[in-house]
Amino acid sequence: MIDPSYQSIWREAEQFIRICYHELERSDEETELRLAQIYTELVSSGTYSHTEDELTHGARMAWRNSARCIGRLFWPSLEVIDKRKAESEEEVTEALLQHIDLATNGGRIRPVITIFAQQDKDTPPVRIWNHQLIRYAGYKTEAGVIGDPASAAFTKECLNLGWKGEGTPFDVLPLVVQIGGQRPKWHAIPSSSIMEIPLVHPEDASFAELGLRWYAVPMIADMKLEIGGLTYPAAPFNGWYMETEIGARNLADRDRYNKLEEVALKLGLDVSTNISLWKDRALVELNRAVLHSFKLKGVSIVDHHTASDQFIRFEKQEREAEREVSGRWSWLIPPMSPAATQIWHNAYTDLEMRPSLEYQKAPFEGKNQTEGEGQGSEPQLSKTKPSDRTVSTRELSTSSAERCPFH
Ligand code: ARG
Repeated sequence: MIDPSYQSIWREAEQFIRICYHELERSDEETELRLAQIYTELVSSGTYSHTEDELTHGARMAWRNSARCIGRLFWPSLEVIDKRKAESEEEVTEALLQHIDLATNGGRIRPVITIFAQQDKDTPPVRIWNHQLIRYAGYKTEAGVIGDPASAAFTKECLNLGWKGEGTPFDVLPLVVQIGGQRPKWHAIPSSSIMEIPLVHPEDASFAELGLRWYAVPMIADMKLEIGGLTYPAAPFNGWYMETEIGARNLADRDRYNKLEEVALKLGLDVSTNISLWKDRALVELNRAVLHSFKLKGVSIVDHHTASDQFIRFEKQEREAEREVSGRWSWLIPPMSPAATQIWHNAYTDLEMRPSLEYQKAPFEGKNQTEGEGQGSEPQLSKTKPSDRTVSTRELSTSSAERCPFH
């Protein structure tokens, strides 16, 4: 008889293997054989490990199930890099640098996930301290934060570990890797691996004087991947940017780079009155600049209208495959002109499906490093409507500390 503490792994494993093998068109015989094998492994060792195919398809399913992500049409193209055997801090850092280069691909961005060792005991085998592999530092000063305020806590940790930044508003933070419970180590990313885009405007040449820029690839590094009852605490992944993430949030939010007024003044708008709609006009021009600048450099990016159309296609595709789509309306709608996209007019049900990508506590300061990010309150909850659930879903607990991979 199986030890009761492993019952939950077994339950999840069985559910995952059945769906996964069905989708991969494996025979019933092969499925039952694999289940028997997992059961035996669980009984003798208390855990089991995934085959390459299970890992690959499981990671793709996790993307497909991400309720907050508008970019899911491309889930089958996710490249999965198996680094479960990378044990030392050097090997992990090396793999992260490889991820950055593979994903960046000279600007033709490839969606990639690199998966490190699964968690078997209480201490995670590998933890990446970064929120994203490439992100700008935020230095707290008496006059306010220099750089990205969202990085302030992590930047402090980097400085404590002995890293030194130049002190500009766009310093790229080092990779910080922790093995087991050991002291984390930092490693600067070679500048040849960091692709950045200086922002220019399609018509207004003076826009460039704002000195705005952003990096090419958003690579989320602090979420955990859950597949079939197993947890991978280090599994950095990336897609490409939707322009509003940069132009309507990162550079615009008051608690981020807060650049709307500077942009408006540069464009000669009347900032003395709300009725000039200067914020809205600055947002549009800033977002045009983001799209224009990425295109100019040949870096993959999607605008929010196209992304919304792609999401509608994803939904249709999933309906045809007779699968439920989990969605969180307040995160799927773009932060600019949301009602001009179809998503606004639809209703979504926020289900928690497995495999999945989940938040986890930041390894430093005992607090969640993503706290305060995202859209905050969700006044539109009435927009969601209940629907039937499949066996692979369960109710989602809503937390305001959650962050959208796309916003
Ligand atoms: N919103 C985050 C940022 O602006 C990135 C999240 C992931 N985005 C994506 N397009 N895959 O940096």
